[in-house]
Amino acid sequence: MPGSQVDPLFATAPDRRGTGSEKWDRWAGHDVIPTWVADMDFAAPEVVLDAIRDRVAHGVFGYTDMPPGFAPALAEHLERRHGWTIEPDWVTSVPGVVNGLAITARLLAGAGDGIITFTPVYPPFLSLPPLAGRECIRVPLSQAANRWTIDWDRLEASVTPRTKLFWLCHPHNPTGTVFREPDLLRIAEFAARHGLTVISDEIWSDLLLDEEHGGPRHVPFASLDHDKAHNAITLVAPSKTWNLAGLGCAAAVTREVSLLKKWRPTGGGLVPMINPLGYAAAEAAWRHGDHWRRRLVAVLRRHRELVLETVAALPGLTCATPEATYLVWIDCRQAGRADPQAACEAAGIGTSDGKDFGFPGFIRLNTACPTDRLVEILHRLARAFSQ
Ligand SMILES: Cc1ncc(COP(=O)(O)O)c(C=O)c1O
Repeated sequence: MPGSQVDPLFATAPDRRGTGSEKWDRWAGHDVIPTWVADMDFAAPEVVLDAIRDRVAHGVFGYTDMPPGFAPALAEHLERRHGWTIEPDWVTSVPGVVNGLAITARLLAGAGDGIITFTPVYPPFLSLPPLAGRECIRVPLSQAANRWTIDWDRLEASVTPRTKLFWLCHPHNPTGTVFREPDLLRIAEFAARHGLTVISDEIWSDLLLDEEHGGPRHVPFASLDHDKAHNAITLVAPSKTWNLAGLGCAAAVTREVSLLKKWRPTGGGLVPMINPLGYAAAEAAWRHGDHWRRRLVAVLRRHRELVLETVAALPGLTCATPEATYLVWIDCRQAGRADPQAACEAAGIGTSDGKDFGFPGFIRLNTACPTDRLVEILHRLARAFSQ
C-alpha cells in the first residue's frame, strides 16, 4: 500500500473542519473531499511553529514594519537555494503575492493598458487586470506531449502598443511547467523589444519536484544576465512551501528600489501592514525550513506518481507530468463528461474547475494531503470517470 512508504511527518494531518478553512468549508456537510485551493493539509514545520510561539511570548503586537531579519533571511534563502544574489534593500514586504500583482498593475500600467499572461493560469492573473481597469491579454501555452510550452508566435501576435506588463507565473500554476533559462532569456528579449516590465510570480519556486534527481532547477527570472531581468519585479512567499498562506506574508524583490518607495502609496491606503506572526514565520521558514521542505518534496513526488498512474488508467484523461507544485492539471475533454467538475463533485471530490483558469474541460487536483486521503481521492476520481 502506498501509505506504508509515507514519511511519518506527513502521514497524518490536523482536522481543519470548523476552523474557517476556505478549502474545507466549501463543501462542508457533504461527503466531498476538498482537493482544490492551493494550501496543504499538513501542519507547518516545528521550526516555524517555534518562531511563532516565541513571537507570541513577546506579547506585543503593535503596527509592525519589516523586522531587521526579514530581508536578510530572504536574501540568504535565495542565494542558497537558487544562487541568486540580492541586496536586502531590494526587498519590500507585501501582505500576499496576489496583492503584489494588483499593485504592479497600478504601479507600472495605466488605465486601459495591457498585461500579458500565459494561460491556463491561476485565476487572479485573469481577474486582477480588469479589476484595475487594465486589459488582460491571454496567450495560451501549447500542450506538447508531456509538457506545456510557450507558443512564441502567439506571444508575438498578442502584444500591442498598449501592452506594458508581462505577468509570468514561474513555476507555472496550474501546469507545473518549470521554464528553462533559454525560454526565460527569450521572454526577456521579447520584453525588451516591446518595452514591457516582467513581473515574475515565483511563489512555487521551492517546490521543484525533480531537482534532486537531475531534473530542472528554478532559475529566478531576475537573476538572468539581461537588462530586462534587472528591472523585473519578483514576487515570492514562504506560503506555498511551508503552508503559511493564512499568515499573509510575502515579498517583492527588485533592483529598481525607487519603485519600492511608491509601492504602498500605489495601494491607495488599501494595503495593510503585515502582521508580526507572518514575519516571524516567514523568517524561520527561509532560515530553518529546508530539511522539512526536502522531506515534503519527496512525499509530493510519490503523490504525483500515484495521480499519474490513476490518470493513465482512465480512458479519456491525460495530463502532462508537473515538474513543480503539488498540483496536477488533468485534461478531461475526451472523457465523455459534459462537465468534469460536476462529475468529480458528484463522485465526492472537490477539484478546481479548469474554466476558472481559462480552460474549460480541465480539472486541477491538489495532492498535498496525507497519502491515505489521496488514495481515497483517486478512487473517487476513477469513479467519476469510469464508463
Ligand atoms: C501562482 C500563485 N500566485 C499567488 C498565489 C497566492 O498568493 P498569496 O496567497 O500570497 O496572495 C497562489 C496561490 O495558489 C499561486 O498559485
